[in-house]
Amino acid sequence: MDGGLVARDMSSDDLTQVMTIENNAQASPWGRLSFEESLTKSHFCRVLEVAWEHEQGQQSQIVAYHVVCPILDELHILNVVAAPQYQGIGLGHRLMHDILEIAEHHQTRRIFLEVRASNEKAQSLYLKWQFKQMGLRKAYYRRTLSNTSREDALIFMRDCTQA
Ligand SMILES: CC(C)(COP(=O)(O)OP(=O)(O)OC[C@H]1O[C@@H](n2cnc3c(N)ncnc32)[C@H](O)[C@@H]1OP(=O)(O)O)[C@@H](O)C(=O)NCCC(=O)NCCS
Repeated sequence: MDGGLVARDMSSDDLTQVMTIENNAQASPWGRLSFEESLTKSHFCRVLEVAWEHEQGQQSQIVAYHVVCPILDELHILNVVAAPQYQGIGLGHRLMHDILEIAEHHQTRRIFLEVRASNEKAQSLYLKWQFKQMGLRKAYYRRTLSNTSREDALIFMRDCTQA
């Protein structure tokens, strides 16, 4: 897929595709309003899109996205998602690469994120990108249909001055 894969800024025209992925991929999906608010704030909202030639012209499909919020010399990762049917083929690494490029460009010192204690896939990805667990928020996440107790959040941080 990598040949036809491009990273670009998200726009409001992308939100139908993004919401379909979000609802299928996340335990507690964001609502459309959260994406709309991120697009109007100074957040970085980026998509990975695959494009191909078709008889009727060029076709494209969003396969992954992230939303990142800059606060002074920090970046806070708010959302990182690969479409379920395309997980496990490197899109998570591609998203992290894009986030690290943003961090480098903005001379970010530290990157923070929160991840569900049960989300081992995402934790494994973050550890590979030199994030370290530096805290825990007890019972941080709301109950979901599949998880009737409030789940802990692990706080991960990447020290970009050391990496
Ligand atoms: C987390 C997520 C973005 C990873 O995306 P992905 O495209 O599947 O990831 P990649 O294929 O690039 O794999 C990246 C790393 O994730 C981890 N990973 C991926 N699939 C895994 C699996 N089935 N089991 C364990 N670890 C896994 C591995 O560390 C992998 O690195 P490796 O391929 O070098 O071994 C994706 O699973 C996702 O969208 N999950 C739902 C939303 C979510 O939980 N987001 C994170 C919120 S904090």
